[in-house]
Amino acid sequence: MANSISQQGGGGQIVICVILLILSMVACQSVPDLDAELQTVIQAQRITRLDPGPAQDPALVALGQALYFDKILSGNRDIACATCHHPHKNSGDDLPISIGTGGVGLGETRQIGNGRQFIPRNAPEVFNRGAAEWRTMFWDSRVMLGEDGRFQTPAGAKLPATVANLLAAQAMFPVTSNDEMRGAVGDTDVFGQPNELALIDSDDLPSIWQALMNRVLAIPEYQTLFAAAYPDVPMAELDFGHAANAIAAFEIEAYTFYHTPWYQYLEGDTLALSDDAKSGALLFFGEAGCSRCHSGPLFTDQQHHNLAVPQVGPGKGDYAPLDLGRFSETGNLTDKYAFRTPPLHNVTISGPWMHNGAFNTLEAVIEHHLDTEKSLQGYDTAVHLPPDLRGTFQNDPALLDEMLQTVDPQLAPARKLSAQEIQQLIAFLEALTDPGVAENIAYLVPTAVPSGLSVDVVINREGE
Ligand code: HEC
Ligand code: HEC
Repeated sequence: MANSISQQGGGGQIVICVILLILSMVACQSVPDLDAELQTVIQAQRITRLDPGPAQDPALVALGQALYFDKILSGNRDIACATCHHPHKNSGDDLPISIGTGGVGLGETRQIGNGRQFIPRNAPEVFNRGAAEWRTMFWDSRVMLGEDGRFQTPAGAKLPATVANLLAAQAMFPVTSNDEMRGAVGDTDVFGQPNELALIDSDDLPSIWQALMNRVLAIPEYQTLFAAAYPDVPMAELDFGHAANAIAAFEIEAYTFYHTPWYQYLEGDTLALSDDAKSGALLFFGEAGCSRCHSGPLFTDQQHHNLAVPQVGPGKGDYAPLDLGRFSETGNLTDKYAFRTPPLHNVTISGPWMHNGAFNTLEAVIEHHLDTEKSLQGYDTAVHLPPDLRGTFQNDPALLDEMLQTVDPQLAPARKLSAQEIQQLIAFLEALTDPGVAENIAYLVPTAVPSGLSVDVVINREGE
């Protein structure tokens, strides 16, 4: 008897407890604790910071900085890596798609040369490319680090063994491209001299790289810089792989920027993010489904997805005026129109966005993800493209249908998002931008390079 009475009493307490619990849950729902929710997500999804990679050797960085800004690496001596990935342009070029050799100017005012064509794709920002997580380079991953630790590149077995890392493997290729840096047969350089690089057979990559080394090592200042960077390598044994390693070292040293409000937040500073950014983070890792593809410390799965991005620009290779993306590398039908998921650190300052710069606002980028069909069908070139590219939009209804039919199903968000929620996602993306970029990046431009050729700078920059 006594037992059952005490049990009854216990039952009453439980009822009160349950009521209190429900009340507190209701209270919680009406005033959502964003921090608590976000902590749960951060732990459940094991969200971590990126590993920026090892510190770079200063002698290698000094050589790399010279090479990166020196137009001597281009056939016509008129374009450098920096022209398309410039510190004053947040490591990109501010253009939807790039303008290669023959062009004049920097950034959005850059003009295409007579008889030249646009580069098919958008020059990506090159932030944090030294991070340990990277396995792929280029929008179609045509340079990759294989599971076996070997580089898979368009050069195959011809890639010099001296290439030290994935970013250096990437740096071997812009110099070989006719449109980007090498120039075309018959071109003369800025001094009216013949362009010897353009005459080399396109398949003969080793001869192109050797011709570049001949140019560079004829300059005493480069001999000194190479000797300092490679004290144990005799000059006769230096190859373009050594140059590429230096360029990569400079890119890593110069463009590693990940001290973001988001990382401050991950370290426990709950004031580092606005409520909008916190709500945006919850959407990003939750109902909006962004982290299905923009996953891991770099916010990319480094996989390829068809987002049915409007086809603009000259197109690429055999499929021009279309660009079939990863399909051109693999031949797999599932890779048609698929491009590598881009990373998102500092993405707010690296527009125009997408593999071909088809969108010039982040609202439009996100709206495209959320309703691909509406965005593609309603794509307005006058809104998003400069006049000289508007006529390149491939708007054949059959093509649009085909692209839409194979859109990656992972793109579908759990529900329709409101305009306010899109702004919250943008607030989160803003929290992925390192304020240090604005403060420090402009100071990376050298005043001169060893060849004596001109160094691209933004003229009339504020405060200069
Ligand atoms: C004419 C403009 C131009 C020049 C010059 C140029 N690039 Fe690029 N860069 C691009 C474009 C466009 C892409 C994307 C191409 C693609 O994915 O097919 C790119 C891609 C890259 C990437 C890949 C980033 C990623 O994550 O996929 C890196 C790194 C890079 N360039 C570094 C360099 C270096 C180093 C040089 C000089 C050796 C250089 N670029 C010269 C326009 C240029
Ligand atoms: C199915 C995989 C997938 C999902 C899900 C996804 N993205 Fe993307 N995202 C991509 C790919 C792939 C691209 C590049 C597509 C192209 O250029 O053709 C991209 C491009 C972007 C860009 C432009 C970046 C740049 O440098 O050009 C931003 C910003 C972006 N996504 C944000 C988001 C947000 C926010 C969400 C959630 C609403 C999201 N993504 C969901 C795969 C995805």
